Amino acid sequence: MTMPLTEEHMAPMFRSAFGRPYRHSTSCGSTQDQLLDSDPEGTVAVCEEQTAGRGRRGRLWAAPSGRALLASIVLKPPNERPAAQLTLLSGVVVAALIERELCVPVGIKWPNDVLVGNAKVAGILAEQRGAAVMLGIGINVNQTADELPGDARLPPTSLRVLAGRPFSRSELLAALVEELETTYRGWAERGLSVVSDELAHRDVLRGERLEVGAAAGVGAGIGSDGALLIETTSGLEAVVAGEVNVTW
Ligand code: BTN
Repeated sequence: MTMPLTEEHMAPMFRSAFGRPYRHSTSCGSTQDQLLDSDPEGTVAVCEEQTAGRGRRGRLWAAPSGRALLASIVLKPPNERPAAQLTLLSGVVVAALIERELCVPVGIKWPNDVLVGNAKVAGILAEQRGAAVMLGIGINVNQTADELPGDARLPPTSLRVLAGRPFSRSELLAALVEELETTYRGWAERGLSVVSDELAHRDVLRGERLEVGAAAGVGAGIGSDGALLIETTSGLEAVVAGEVNVTW
């Protein structure tokens, strides 16, 4: 039985400003909808189970109760910072956190998939609401192999499957919130350059054959603005949004 991530349990574990206020429910539709754009920056919502958890591009995000980390956080980025970069920024934070736990390389498939090998361990969903961005993070933590979704676009995995042992979700959540705050504040001041080296090093699409919409070619990195660069037969193309199909 895993310990629920109640406010009583989590409040003493948050070491910086983010994580207050904190909203926890046993079950909700989506943590994204537990937050309002009038909530202060850094408000966090966590549910043990989501009945309508969502991924990018209208997909479902499903996990059995109490196994995954299902969290959303309110951010209010400065006007000059493109909110789309928050997906990449938080992907880097999540990847670094998981890498530290597992001691295996963790990659990012632009723009929002966090991978170990070619298996997905976490995903990010940034939704703009007024001046706020609801940043949703789903990390597969303690699911066993048969609890992972069978119909996923990328093969799913979890920390537990990868390491052969369960993890403390509360420690992961506290570290995630703190590290996200630090990286976010750096980005708000200085832009995506705060993670560009790490993003380049985690980019699993570089050098791979890709297709995104009409663009096809070889992954050529991530631009300084966060666009996916593809070397096509007619030159370098920058893709700002889309679904990447890759032939590994
Ligand atoms: C994706 O990989 O497509 C994004 C997945 C994002 C899932 C998280 S779980 C917490 C938050 N609430 C949601 O409904 N979605 C995000």
